Amino acid sequence: MRQFTEDTLTEAVIGRLKDVKSPRVKQLMTGLIRHLHAFAKDVRLTEEEWFEAIKFLTAVGQKCDGKRQEFILLSDVLGLSMMVVALNHKTAPGATEATVLGPFFAHGAKEYGHGGDLREGATIKGEDVWVSGRVLSVDGKPIPGATLDIWQAKADGIYDLQTGGEFELRGRVRANAKGEYAFKSYKPKFYSIPVDGPVGDLVRATGNHHMRPAHMHAIVAAPGYQQVITHVFVDGDPYLESDAVFAVKDSLVVKYRKLDAAEAKKLGMPEKSFKLEFDFRLSPEKGVKKARKKIAASDAVA
Ligand code: BEZ
Ligand code: FE
Repeated sequence: MRQFTEDTLTEAVIGRLKDVKSPRVKQLMTGLIRHLHAFAKDVRLTEEEWFEAIKFLTAVGQKCDGKRQEFILLSDVLGLSMMVVALNHKTAPGATEATVLGPFFAHGAKEYGHGGDLREGATIKGEDVWVSGRVLSVDGKPIPGATLDIWQAKADGIYDLQTGGEFELRGRVRANAKGEYAFKSYKPKFYSIPVDGPVGDLVRATGNHHMRPAHMHAIVAAPGYQQVITHVFVDGDPYLESDAVFAVKDSLVVKYRKLDAAEAKKLGMPEKSFKLEFDFRLSPEKGVKKARKKIAASDAVA
């Protein structure tokens, strides 16, 4: 057949996938085609609307460069990033929960020793904080040598990557022999996601705000354990209930406390500094493989 109707077109397009070698690619493409066609039919998509959508996606692509990732931002505000996180992180109970990566991670940040100062070179001063804790397995064993990649917005709510200068408030920290880590930074503040591009237009068109509750990002990894991409949020933040990218998890919301004068002196921190204590707990890689197999088996049955 070479001529199709709205009732026969979807199966015809899927039929063209018959020689695709990879079963997974075939499954992904089949699902995508089915859902896209069903969407168009469901909303009775007009040609003008489809052309607007193409213009929008083109603008999203054109906004991307080595430092700006508008597609990640789009996925974030649509809740798709958090859906993918939810589907892929059925980790062991007690493990640190995962959340979005966001568009501002960068490779190659400097490595700091125990107690290192991530405020080094900061162009804007914030409220000083001593951040410390341990990296543990879910059963409470310290994980010496675990790495923590840390990044956060500057005190004005803008990431270093957005202004194109040197790295600021980001670094790689390593857990010591007891699994402990510590570094100095600034207490994060709530901030706006970048809204100077097409995703900003989209958020404004929905009437929603574009704020994220204050948080520090962390990627914590160690051999034999599942890496976790996560945040630590600031308890009491006004945007915890309405994060623009749906990324808050209760277990990641933590109180920042004031250091008393003696503690501050001992740690080499200014008076009135804060402290943040947070333990990261990693799932064993083996358990993850087992959990993934279980999920795959139940998906196959469904
Ligand atoms: C972030 O936390 O850096 C972020 C996450 C999603 C969208 C924009 C920013
Ligand atoms: Fe962030």
